[in-house]
Amino acid sequence: MNKVIQFDNQRVATNPSDWYWREDVARIERECIFQKNWQLFARLSQFQKTGDYIADTVAGLPVIVVKGEDGELRAFHNVCRHRAGILSGEGQGNCARLRCIYHGWTYDLEGELVNAPQVMKEDGFDISKFGLMPIRVEAWNGLVFVHFDMQCESLQDWLGDIVEIMSHFPSLDEDFNFTQENSINFAANWKAYGDNSCEGYHLPLIHRDMASDIDARHTKIEAREGGYINFDVTYRDGSQGCWIYKYPNFMLACEKNYINVQSTDPVTATTSRIRDYFWFAPECSEDEIKEDLIASNLVTEEDKNICANVQRNLETGVYKSGELSSSQEHGTRYFQELIRNDIQNKLG
Ligand code: FES
Ligand SMILES: [Fe+2]
Repeated sequence: MNKVIQFDNQRVATNPSDWYWREDVARIERECIFQKNWQLFARLSQFQKTGDYIADTVAGLPVIVVKGEDGELRAFHNVCRHRAGILSGEGQGNCARLRCIYHGWTYDLEGELVNAPQVMKEDGFDISKFGLMPIRVEAWNGLVFVHFDMQCESLQDWLGDIVEIMSHFPSLDEDFNFTQENSINFAANWKAYGDNSCEGYHLPLIHRDMASDIDARHTKIEAREGGYINFDVTYRDGSQGCWIYKYPNFMLACEKNYINVQSTDPVTATTSRIRDYFWFAPECSEDEIKEDLIASNLVTEEDKNICANVQRNLETGVYKSGELSSSQEHGTRYFQELIRNDIQNKLG
């Protein structure tokens, strides 16, 4: 496991409020953060047969992942090499070939261009030069991730501590059953959700129901090198929760009955989307599942609403920056420090 970070008691200012709405900051983040980290994309069980594909957007970039004839998943930018048409709109399906909707250029499941209507007969046209632009795709524990940099570290290396921690928990799909998936849009910059997810200071007022179930004295929050903020939660009924935030935007919550996986994706500079998946223990009754889903979805709703409120205030320009608690917000301090390290020298 990575080392726990010990923070001093220095007063630390929050990152500037305009980082939460500036278009140039969002562009820099896409390049310096989202193209440099593995991004949750889908569930592995969504790809069963040759030709099963999912087209979706990751941090503003259209991506398509498809299962090849050899059973391997491949990921490509969902952009045609002719004049940047799209191969498929968002959604999932099955296909024998990937065909651009604009002029019909057609690619095989390995991304090679195999048909360019009319153009193929033209002198000097070299079909081999116009394959789809690949991106990395790897799966772990029933989850499919993509990475825009083909030279990046492996998914397992990037997940690091999470692989070790999750070896003590049930496996997704194998031990626990996939139960629910949500795609949740909200009106705040993705960092507002990250700031909020990395501290427990807001629990008593924002999540009254959940907070009343938690034994705060035996709940511990640690920041660990490598971009992890770990919450060891003890509930009043004696059960344990393990929540992990992995920078920049991946979250796992392991509870007695279920495991919840989330990632937060910037859609625009001021709006975001949460990918949200649940797996439940097979012994859970329908009533238990329903009750846990209502409670967990309420927590996400409460977080989403407070982040939207904060976002409105950040955008007014009245508030420029605040100060973080040294005892309550070390996770958020670490998250904001990682953001600064990644983007500050590009901001000029
Ligand atoms: S842009 Fe794809 S075929 Fe023309
Ligand atoms: Fe929260």
